[in-house]
Formats: sequence, C-alpha cells, structure tokens
Amino acid sequence: MTRLLHVVGARPNFMKAAAVMGPARHYPGVEQILVHTGQHYDPEMSSAHFPDLGLPAPDENLGVGSGSQAAQTAAVMMAFEPVLARSRPDWVVVYGDVNSTVACTLVAAKMGIRVAHVEAGLRSRDRTMPEELNRIVTDQLADLLLTPSRDANDNLRLEGIPGDRIRFTGNVMVDTLLRLLGKARDRRVAARMQVAAGEYAFVTMHRPGNVDDPDVLRDILAALEATARHFPVLFAAHPRTIARIEEFGLRDVVREVKLIKPLAYLDSIGLLDTAAVVITDSGGLQEETTALGVPCLTIRPNTERPVTVTEGTNRLVASNRQAIVSAVDQVVQRLDRHHVPRRPEGWDGHAGDRVVASLLNRSVGTPDELVNPAPGRQVAV
Ligand code: UD1
Repeated sequence: MTRLLHVVGARPNFMKAAAVMGPARHYPGVEQILVHTGQHYDPEMSSAHFPDLGLPAPDENLGVGSGSQAAQTAAVMMAFEPVLARSRPDWVVVYGDVNSTVACTLVAAKMGIRVAHVEAGLRSRDRTMPEELNRIVTDQLADLLLTPSRDANDNLRLEGIPGDRIRFTGNVMVDTLLRLLGKARDRRVAARMQVAAGEYAFVTMHRPGNVDDPDVLRDILAALEATARHFPVLFAAHPRTIARIEEFGLRDVVREVKLIKPLAYLDSIGLLDTAAVVITDSGGLQEETTALGVPCLTIRPNTERPVTVTEGTNRLVASNRQAIVSAVDQVVQRLDRHHVPRRPEGWDGHAGDRVVASLLNRSVGTPDELVNPAPGRQVAV
C-alpha cells in the first residue's frame, strides 16, 4: 500500500494534480488523499474547476483564504500540520510554486515525511517574485524533484541538488490540456462570445508586478484598449486585477476591451486554442500556447519557462504601452517568427504517468525512455 497525499491550493495547481491523480488511480495498492488549502476560494477560481478536470472533491479543505504572503503561508502551515500528522502518507505531492506549495513542503519536511515536487527546477532568477522564492525553498527541501524540462534539471544541479533526487518527467499541465482539448473544442466558446476563430486576442493578467502599480496597470490597459479598437480583445480578469482596476479608477481606460470573469478551464483552453494571440503574465498559459502553437506575448521581463521562448511560441514583452502594441502588430502581420515552433521534449501527454512511476519507484518512465513528440501544431487528439 502506498499512500499519496496531494496538496492543491490555487487555480494552476488543479490541472497539474489532475494529471497525476488520474494515472495513479490505475495502480492497485495506491491510496490517494486530496488536500485543498483554500488559498483560492471563489468558486470560479476553485471548486468550479474540479468536475471538469475529473478531480474528486477534496478530502480536506483547510479554508485558509487570502492574506499577506507571510500570513497566508503561516495559515497553511498551521492548518496542514494536524492533517499530516493524522494521515501519515508515504509521499506528500506538491505542485508548482504557489504559497501552499512551499508551506506544505516545510511542514512535511519537518515531520520527516517525504515530499515530491511536481514542476521542480524552474527558475526566473527574479527574487522579487514570491513564486521564485517558493520554488527555491521547495526544491531544497523536497526529496524527489520531478522536472518539466531539461533546463530545470540544470538549474537544480547548479544549486547543488544531487542527481539521484531529480527525474525529468515532462510537463503535466500539457497532459491535462491534451486530454481535455476535444471537450473544450466541442463547447465552441469563441462563437458563444461572438468572436471569429483566429481574429481575437485572449488576455489574462494578475502578477503583482503588473497589476499592483497604478502606472504600470494603466499602461497595460491602454495598450489593450489600443488593440481593441481594431481587433476584439477578451480579458478574463483575476479577482485581484478587477479589484485593482476599481481601486485605481481605471475602468474608463478599457471601454472597448471585453472584461470577463475568470473562465472555466475548458472555456479558457477553448478560447486560447483559436486566439490570434494570447497576452498574459500567467505561467500556465505560456505553456499551453506553446503546446498548441498559438502565439503568446508574456508581459514580464523574464520567464522561468525558457523553452516556451526558445522552442515554443512565446515572446517576452515589456509592460509598456508601445512595446505591447507593436508586439501585437508583429504577431498579426506574422512578422514575429524567428524559428519554427515545436512542442518541447516530454510535453507529450504522458508526464503524469512518469510522475506516478517515479513515486512508486517503477522502472518505466526514466528520462531516456521519453519520446520526443512531433513538432509544430499537430495535436495528438
Ligand atoms: C496565486 C499564486 C500565483 C498564481 C496565481 C494563479 C502565490 C504566491 N501566487 O496568485 O503564482 O499564478 O495564484 O491565479 O501563491 N482572490 C480572490 N478570490 C480567490 C483568490 C484570490 O478574490 O479565490 C484575490 C484576493 O484579493 C487575494 C488576491 O486575489 O488577496 C491574491 O490571491 P493570492 O492567493 O494571494 O495570490 P494570486 O495573485 O491569486
């Protein structure tokens, strides 16, 4: 019997956990426990995603909610400790780089319970991002580091982590994307939103660096508005972004942009799939656009996902009006391609199988057995 305790807290964790919990169900003798910290709590940021992803209802919901970085991290730690003491799993499986990831890693490490980090080794080298600090601490403490791309293995080795703790498993986010893309297409979300396939921009934006400073946010919104005058722009706004737009009195800057609530996962990938361009600061969207061959402009000075730029369709753009407007123009006029985009190694829909094999210490799924997927926009569905 192997007991796996999966920790999820914020929206991007759910797609990743689904990609691991699904394959793990097929192994006899595996028991799974799902703990939701409640870092995200609005239905459209949290519970609404579970049925679409095929995730079970959480066994425990810690209900921590929002707070400062320290308060939120501490609240997760305090609430998680008794749950972990009761359930004594063989592995705590943590995902990504959110505050819940590092908080539960720290608790488990101190209790001597093994931690596996899915999506280990990514580095932006930007320590002003809370996620970068979460990644560094989690990777130092975790016992098993499951990486989405080869650069992540290099980053971990450079930080002195022994090779026997690291496994290159590929990208679990892409597993869920490929599994559910057919269903997403059936929902015809672009038509429902009255935009033509290939003729609109799809936008998300929520990083503190972009939305918490009124001047930066105003500039980004002005760029979106300039784009929206000749090209439909659909902006699925995170609750913190909506809150900042109201707080800074910026509603009037975005009259033509269509501001919508956070989308269901299937609608989000449905809109992304047929967008002319995606404009974002999300980590997951950088990966999903590369997997589907859709042009992506990431409004950040750096990325912890460099393969999306060197191999995929992603481009980093400064958070100022002129840079964004001219980058969108280049995409629309197809002047932006410097290489033929391809799906990176291990982004093949089977990363979750390799994660489970690593957790159960099976011999399948070692890095050398990874098959490089077909290049370009072909999608295996
Ligand atoms: C978190 C992650 C980020 C991830 C993002 C995805 C950290 C440090 N950051 O950022 O890496 O890309 O999730 O969405 O963990 N709020 C709501 N309802 C919710 C959740 C949040 O209204 O369900 C609002 C609250 O005002 C809250 C703010 O959003 O204070 C920020 O939420 P928080 O969980 O602290 O971080 P995110 O910005 O969502």
